[in-house]
Amino acid sequence: MLLMIATHAIVAHTGLEEKEVLSLFEVPPQPEWGDVAFPCFVLAKKFRKSPQHIAMELAELVSREAGLTASASGAYVNITLDRSAHIPSMLAELRKAEFLKPNIGYGQRVVIDMSSPNIAKPFGIGHLRSTVIGAALYRILGETGYVPISVNHLGDWGTQFGKQIAAYKRWGNEEQLQHDPIGESLKLYVRFHQEAEHDPSLEDEGREWFRRLEQGDTEAQQLWEFFVEVSLGEFDRMYQRLNISFDHVLGESFYNDKMQAVVAQLRAKGLLEESDGALVVRLEDEQLPPCLILKKDGTTIYPTRDLATAIYRHEVMKADRLLYVVGGEQKLHFQQVFAVLKHAGETWAEQCEHVPFGLMRFAGKKMSTRRGKVVKLEEVLDEAVARAQDIITEKNPNLLEQQAIAEDVGIGAIIFGDLKNNRLNEVDFSLEEALTFEGETGPYVQYTHARIRSLLEKARAHSDVDSTSSDNVLAQDGHSPDLNIVSDEMLGDAGWALLKQLDRYHGQLIRAARQLEPSVIARFALDTAQAFNRFYAKERIVDGGQWRIQLAEQTADMLASTLRLLGLKAPNRM
Ligand code: ARG
Repeated sequence: MLLMIATHAIVAHTGLEEKEVLSLFEVPPQPEWGDVAFPCFVLAKKFRKSPQHIAMELAELVSREAGLTASASGAYVNITLDRSAHIPSMLAELRKAEFLKPNIGYGQRVVIDMSSPNIAKPFGIGHLRSTVIGAALYRILGETGYVPISVNHLGDWGTQFGKQIAAYKRWGNEEQLQHDPIGESLKLYVRFHQEAEHDPSLEDEGREWFRRLEQGDTEAQQLWEFFVEVSLGEFDRMYQRLNISFDHVLGESFYNDKMQAVVAQLRAKGLLEESDGALVVRLEDEQLPPCLILKKDGTTIYPTRDLATAIYRHEVMKADRLLYVVGGEQKLHFQQVFAVLKHAGETWAEQCEHVPFGLMRFAGKKMSTRRGKVVKLEEVLDEAVARAQDIITEKNPNLLEQQAIAEDVGIGAIIFGDLKNNRLNEVDFSLEEALTFEGETGPYVQYTHARIRSLLEKARAHSDVDSTSSDNVLAQDGHSPDLNIVSDEMLGDAGWALLKQLDRYHGQLIRAARQLEPSVIARFALDTAQAFNRFYAKERIVDGGQWRIQLAEQTADMLASTLRLLGLKAPNRM
């Protein structure tokens, strides 16, 4: 809103486009200089004057507008809003739907491929990132006028399931698999590969089982279903704790009966070529290696399934846009799949987008390499919650519902610790760091939010005392709290800075949606919490008058909604 006010003034006197003006604004290096600075260089040609000269004239004109003052500084016009004239309307604006939910999506349907762990394998850190980033994008896009549709594309198909079945048939135990599905599957998998080294017939056995599975053999099917069911049970526990649900859980197996059509389509277009007995699509135009479609033994492969999947999402789910939140290491795979779609004549292939992210490592001895290379995610979550509980008990021993809040804070620390990074960056995750209440962390934002809520409670109590007893108690000694304490300004400098920060929300949300970048929102939440804490340190709030209370309340609401967008809870007490 602040920018719009300044924009209108500049547009009126220069004839520039609104968009251009908006993109040119800068923040003055010193807050005393003004609220926004407009550089006049672009106008020099148009008006055939020096930018400095233009700045002076423009400042003069802008100053004549009601509620604005302006001064020239070199080639810049520094514009200052008259605070008392704008504070009420700015606060009101922050509550409007157009401000909070900018519609840039116009109902476009966006299918988001997210999480997508592999059955019978551990839920990896990459899958955690995909889950957390995907869920945040889902909410951010939903908030900005898109219709997001989340799909958990489970890795539940492929030759490895043939091996899994073969191993289970030889050495498996139902009870053990029920008890520890992933651990037991992993054991079988490892044993299979060890023994296959001496006994190559095992590999054939595995291949044969997968072939039977693809052909719908009952026994293979039943065993496979059992693996999927027990693994999914384990994943679901984690999704629950992360507070994640999906619109669709459709594994790769779902496309089993849809792949022949894809192969036929590619064949009809003359795209399939033989290579060592396998069928591939050459992608020389794109300077990519050929995309494998069917293996020698006629079984399908990862890219084949992704082709069928994309077509299904386009045709049946009516996706206007297809996003794949998958680690950067699969870049080539998606380039190939999208290129094959294009060759196959699917013009919408351009609406497919890989949304990659960088590697994350868990630092800190305890988490790193227990049980080989695999970090057990559930243990990481437990550890985070246990540590959060310790911190909370120490800070606030009388807090009720400590356990539930520790869960919110511990899980929140992990989610925020991931999302605050630009998604392409590699992350060295430290649980200790993610849990500090003072750093750039989820708990810091949550804590600031809770602190405002309790402040507001105090303020309410204060105003109750005020209205019921001010006549007899307070007025008796001639002490009217409001008049005495409120500084001459409605919000004070720190309060004004906070209001300007809240005013950025609209623009930042749009940016996060355009760039598919949740870190923009995380950064916004941190900046807002910091701006509030400065306000809290410098100004009276509880007895500081209605505008300050309102500002605090709107800050809490906005922190809560940014936390929600990122997938964190916002407890009222901590
Ligand atoms: N299950 C795959 C893996 O863990 C990720 C799947 C990503 N989604 C897709 N449509 N290929 O590597």
